[in-house]
Amino acid sequence: MSLIEDAVEPTPTPQGVPVLEAKRLVKTFGRVVGLDGVSLQLFPGEVLAVIGDNGAGKSTLIKCLTGAYVPDEGELRLDGELVHFKRPQDARAAGIETVYQNLAVSPALDVAANLFLGRERRKPGLAGTLFRALDRSGMRKEAREQVQKLGISTLQDVTVAVENLSGGQRQAVAVARAAAFGSKVVILDEPTAALGVRESNQVLELIERLREHNVPVILISHNMPHVFQVADRIHVQRLGKRAATITPQSHSMTDAVAIMTGAAQA
Ligand SMILES: Nc1ncnc2c1ncn2[C@@H]1O[C@H](COP(=O)(O)OP(=O)(O)OP(=O)(O)O)[C@@H](O)[C@H]1O
Ligand SMILES: [Mg+2]
Repeated sequence: MSLIEDAVEPTPTPQGVPVLEAKRLVKTFGRVVGLDGVSLQLFPGEVLAVIGDNGAGKSTLIKCLTGAYVPDEGELRLDGELVHFKRPQDARAAGIETVYQNLAVSPALDVAANLFLGRERRKPGLAGTLFRALDRSGMRKEAREQVQKLGISTLQDVTVAVENLSGGQRQAVAVARAAAFGSKVVILDEPTAALGVRESNQVLELIERLREHNVPVILISHNMPHVFQVADRIHVQRLGKRAATITPQSHSMTDAVAIMTGAAQA
């Protein structure tokens, strides 16, 4: 084990090849060290929560996984293969979908159009190739199927403009969009932060639905009850390092907070 490996792994790690693996990532901003040799593993069909205090490096870590930042050092592997993401589109093309808290959906567009944002379908034949006509009915049909597959009962009509939906429904649209089109990994940054109890529960159910469909999820959250409700494993960031990886079975919420704040070690 190298000196900068900070991993403390008190609980058994799942077997097999991780879908996504980061090894010893370093990211500095001038003299500020955002990430100091952080490793992370995401296994098939698991929900991995990332927790940590403000400034612990959660967002920086996610940005390095999704091409928003290029790490100074370290490596990233997707299905065991080395990858180098230079921009967010690279990660997205490789199957890593990220839902950011604020810029998740386009309010003026309807649900179906949001699901297909950036990947619009054209009509077959000349209408589509020459006149670039959109295949609206095809997209709506597929959007309905996607919404149904994820069991989002709250979205009855995919032709409703997203601006008319509640916060939780909008978040559901953003998650559905990330989960569509065969994504390999879905990353959710504080998906329940702005939501009420009922809406939060809908998003948590959606995360469980993704796991049932074998899509692994990375969930960044400050909400311990939510984390302990849905996570299989919990990566604890502290001061730019991974302090521990724990599970809801191995540790209590109080333990997790103590590790996060440095009051305890795993
Ligand atoms: N673009 C940047 N320029 C300079 N410093 C940065 C930049 N991005 C992050 N940092 C610094 O890196 C460290 C980690 O920040 P990061 O945003 O990853 O924390 P976080 O865990 O997401 O915190 P929060 O819970 O507040 O969102 C902090 O000290 C932060 O100030
Ligand atoms: Mg952050």
